Amino acid sequence: MAVVHYHEGRFPPPTLDWPTLIPLLGPAAASLARYDGMLAAIRNPEILLSPLTTQEAVLSSRIEGTQATMGEVLEFEAGQKAASPERRDDIYEVLNYRKAMRKAEELLMELPLSQRVVRETHRVLLSGVRGQNRSPGEYRRMPNWIGPPGCRIEEANFVPIGADRLPDAMSAWERYLHSELPDRLVQLAILHVEFEALHPFLDGNGRLGRMLVPLFLWQMGLLRRPMFYISAFFEARRDVYYERLLAVSRDDDWTSWCRFFLEAVRGQAEDNLTIATAILELYDSMLKRVAELTRSQYAVHALQWIFEKPIFKSSDFVAMARIPAPTARRFLSVLRDSGVLTTVVESSGRRPSVYAFGKLLNIVEGSDVF
Ligand SMILES: Nc1ncnc2c1ncn2[C@@H]1O[C@H](COP(=O)(O)OP(=O)(O)O)[C@@H](O)[C@H]1O
Ligand SMILES: [Mg+2]
Repeated sequence: MAVVHYHEGRFPPPTLDWPTLIPLLGPAAASLARYDGMLAAIRNPEILLSPLTTQEAVLSSRIEGTQATMGEVLEFEAGQKAASPERRDDIYEVLNYRKAMRKAEELLMELPLSQRVVRETHRVLLSGVRGQNRSPGEYRRMPNWIGPPGCRIEEANFVPIGADRLPDAMSAWERYLHSELPDRLVQLAILHVEFEALHPFLDGNGRLGRMLVPLFLWQMGLLRRPMFYISAFFEARRDVYYERLLAVSRDDDWTSWCRFFLEAVRGQAEDNLTIATAILELYDSMLKRVAELTRSQYAVHALQWIFEKPIFKSSDFVAMARIPAPTARRFLSVLRDSGVLTTVVESSGRRPSVYAFGKLLNIVEGSDVF
């Protein structure tokens, strides 16, 4: 197969096949608005949706081969050792992803979404472990290419723009980002594929390009929080995702990509809504249950802490939940005995136990893993 090269001089696309796209716009926007309505109804989405944020980092990283699971990431944060050095690096990548999202959110409180925000977010994404020798925060100064692992440039599927033309191309990308366009979702679809086709960094382009999705939706006022989780759709359809990206440069087929992207937004808005609703229901029912079980004024407090850290070390809960220690210990034994918490690691000697809040994790994983 011939190597496909960047679509030099053909961005932004002069036309799209609107009759194909128009039927998809309303449903995608409507689903997104329903999901945003849900965000409005959650008093503390940062806490309640925090496992979804972790899961997004896991799935977005998995698209290019990172193997760590959400359970492994949370267990690692609870002080457990990773299964192998390779897995530990995977976990650090996922943790960096979450940190990078937080960094971007902070920057966007002060600045518009821009190349500067992209670079600073990239710096956090690639700091430490595997990223540090891949120029965190800096555009590449050499060619890169996409293809089978370790392939030569002649064997690549796709060769992004030459490094010498990257600065101008990124400026054009940024101008497009700041344009007032009639449809924000189509604009975002095109921003994503253009970012991937330029591949401005040595690594991390896919992850950063997917982070753009919630950040842009937030910035444009389509979401009240930068919390939207797109990657499950792409991860489940990785080959189609790559093929649609490639077809833009190969065949000038922007429309099929936009269509796929609009389907992703709609599908994920619906899934995100279902999951967020289930989490909220779980929270409400747990609040009643924990209040009954403990008869304590600290019930809300304890529950929020556990929602944010659904796998945790008992000693962390006692030390960090800001609940008097004897009460905190009583909580843990009541919650364990009533089956709300399951034991991941039994305590032994001075080593504390590790507990998991299985119901929450299963909702986010979409299956009964805990
Ligand atoms: N043919 C293609 N054209 C443009 N982008 C592509 C193509 N195939 C894959 N991609 C994008 O490249 C990303 C991988 O690039 P990479 O810099 O390794 O990102 P990451 O390290 O975050 O996975 C994929 O996730 C996808 O978004
Ligand atoms: Mg990569």
